[in-house]
Amino acid sequence: MPITAPGPLSLVPFVSVQHMMQLVLEIGIPRLLAEMASYIEEDFRRWKAFDKTPRVAAHSAEGVIELMPTSDGVTYGFKYVNGHPKNIREGRQTVTAFGVLANVGNGYPLLLSEMTLLTALRTAATSALAARHLAPPNPRTMAIIGNGAQCEFQALAFQAICGVDTIRLYDIDPAATRKAAANLSDSGLSVVACRSAEEAVETAEIITTCTADKQYATILTDNMVGSGVHLNAVGGDCPGKTELHRDILLRSDIFVEYTPQTRIEGEIQQLDPDHHVTELWKVIEGSAPGRRDATQVTLFDSVGFATEDFSALRYIRDRIAGTTHFQALDLLADPDEPRDLYGMLRRAAA
Ligand SMILES: NC(=O)c1ccc[n+]([C@@H]2O[C@H](COP(=O)([O-])OP(=O)(O)OC[C@H]3O[C@@H](n4cnc5c(N)ncnc54)[C@H](O)[C@@H]3O)[C@@H](O)[C@H]2O)c1
Repeated sequence: MPITAPGPLSLVPFVSVQHMMQLVLEIGIPRLLAEMASYIEEDFRRWKAFDKTPRVAAHSAEGVIELMPTSDGVTYGFKYVNGHPKNIREGRQTVTAFGVLANVGNGYPLLLSEMTLLTALRTAATSALAARHLAPPNPRTMAIIGNGAQCEFQALAFQAICGVDTIRLYDIDPAATRKAAANLSDSGLSVVACRSAEEAVETAEIITTCTADKQYATILTDNMVGSGVHLNAVGGDCPGKTELHRDILLRSDIFVEYTPQTRIEGEIQQLDPDHHVTELWKVIEGSAPGRRDATQVTLFDSVGFATEDFSALRYIRDRIAGTTHFQALDLLADPDEPRDLYGMLRRAAA
């Protein structure tokens, strides 16, 4: 029971996991992914308005905890996110997250939200948005290697945004593939469970890698990537954690979110620091080419950038307005007189 009622400026909308699930199911996943991709695209188009910095990472032997801040001068946002590949063996998620939007003018938070589900949704929406500019036209088949938490979201985003109709799954753990195939069974996608990564990439115009391992892994070797394929490399997102053989990078046209961050975290950490890459926002605004021809191998070296989380939070803030899918959280002290913070505490004891 609160000692005193919260003041009018105390309350911040809070979107819990429960609220997020209600909202996502009410909107419908395909529609939400398409709408969120539009918000992400809109913010990529005004790239220069954003404060940008590589995310602030605290590494340990087990994983990483990261803060991802950005601001467009009006609204500030950040996400707290972890990456601990060993967590699934302990019944925990590899990736969990929450985030905040705040008013730049007065510094007051505008929204506090769960972002574990939201990260999966925004990562998938960003991947599919990138593929719309980089993949061969009218792609039908995508391979997904790594069938963990991100997998189904990736499949559904590529169905909703790119028109993919067949998904070929592979994971070193067949239980993960069975889980993903069962979850996608009523999606309208044709789902093929494969026994090897080599089998999964057969006939695929798009290959998504979303494995989790805290090491330089080789999920794809050069001979597995045919000409004209689009690679959506999601799982290599930390120093010392990559998925693609270096030879693939050397014959790909590489697209990144924010170059300084991707040089540290992405597949391109394997290349010289001046190797040419193109930032995705330039392709979206039309100042740099995306896919040029049918033989080119394109690679979206995704690591996840702060503006995508900002866009996702902006979308959620717009979508909860007028709904019951949030709770007013008593987060900020609001004394009657702003300088009398101590008096507020004293009066509570009376
Ligand atoms: N780029 C981004 O924006 C972004 C966003 C979220 C997550 N991620 C990354 O994506 C990856 C997947 O995340 P998740 O939440 O799905 O993790 P998860 O732990 O739930 O799933 C990972 C899956 O990869 C499988 N795997 C591991 N090594 C493999 C291999 N050699 N071949 C085939 N499968 C293998 C595991 O068995 C597991 O099922 C992580 O590395 C995570 O850090 C990136």
